[in-house]
Amino acid sequence: MNVRKDFPILEKIIYLDSGATTQKPRCVIDAIQKFYLEDNANIHRGVYELSQRATKKFEHVREQVKNFIHAEHSHEIIFTRGTTESINLVAQCLSHNHIQKDDEILISAMEHHSNIVPWQLIAEKIGAKIKVIPITDLGEIELESFRKLFTAKTKMVAVTHVSNVLGTVNPIKEMIRIAHENNVPVLVDGAQAVPHLSVNVTELDCDFYAFSSHKMYGPTGVGVLYGKTEWLKKMPPYQGGGDMIERVSFEKTTYNKLPYKFEAGTPDISNVIGLGVAIDYLNQIGMHAITEHEKKLLAIATEELKKIPELKIFGESENKIGVISFTLNDIHPHDIGTILDHENIAVRAGHHCAMPLMQRFNVPAMTRISFGIYNTEKDIENLIKGLKIVHEVFHERIT
Ligand code: ALA
Repeated sequence: MNVRKDFPILEKIIYLDSGATTQKPRCVIDAIQKFYLEDNANIHRGVYELSQRATKKFEHVREQVKNFIHAEHSHEIIFTRGTTESINLVAQCLSHNHIQKDDEILISAMEHHSNIVPWQLIAEKIGAKIKVIPITDLGEIELESFRKLFTAKTKMVAVTHVSNVLGTVNPIKEMIRIAHENNVPVLVDGAQAVPHLSVNVTELDCDFYAFSSHKMYGPTGVGVLYGKTEWLKKMPPYQGGGDMIERVSFEKTTYNKLPYKFEAGTPDISNVIGLGVAIDYLNQIGMHAITEHEKKLLAIATEELKKIPELKIFGESENKIGVISFTLNDIHPHDIGTILDHENIAVRAGHHCAMPLMQRFNVPAMTRISFGIYNTEKDIENLIKGLKIVHEVFHERIT
């Protein structure tokens, strides 16, 4: 995949932390600058040409997102600040009229804090319960246990499409089918899936799907919530302010139609434009080619890492994307990360915003590498060399 030239920052660093955020291609960076130089105005408000042009460009991105995730309607695409805000939006809104006292919310043991805490916040407030879907030692959802967790009180399933730590691609289509058999809606956290796999929300039949621009080569500050029309119509607004209203009086306010009902205030216009360019960029490369490229890197890196004595990989599902989390002997991941940093290699070390998952595997922290479209076999070679230095620093030798 010949894309490295599009990412000027990669001349300076071996970047193996795309799970945290991807680097941005020059076309995305340029588009944001161009917007401010040529098209900047507030949207949905001005009668003048500049504002109408900005509005048109902004709304075009909504259409692009709709097509990218194969949604049926563009009004089902809501722009947010990121996956976290998308999930909080759904949790808060459903706590008004769908999830009530004593109801149950199912989440998995491999969730990111962003798909745990928003549910805990509403559960505490309304007296609902969180139930955890267990996972196997390989890092896969226990589907049978999942099936058995449903009761008459189950009101929501919130599950990640791809684990940010284990790389596991969960069988969400099957999980959604099971949940729907029980008349329970499903929110999918797609933050780690959308940059790596072709996602089709219509085929998945999920009720909500959340993801972030910054993990898919777009700018930070923008996320997406896909929601089925029937749910979005039923939900009250998340925040109040400009653009989400139809009419305001001191006696009563009525709300705007979808998707604007959920987009209070001026959105991050320039970065939404940047997201649109990132989508064009990904489409040009092709999601299938991206999946294959990263799968190849995953296979090579897994094989090489397994040669290192006492390196333990967490997450060994057959069905995984280019994320490898590991421990190395009892060397603390922060030490590993720091030594690799001296070698100009960026990896993530710590609990990866998934403390309950660390507990599940009985470790305080892990080191994680995660691939993007720009990574190469050379990056893996450099990582392995770096890990040899880690061993040397700790007076051990890798054969
Ligand atoms: N969720 C991001 C990660 O896993 C920050 O690194």
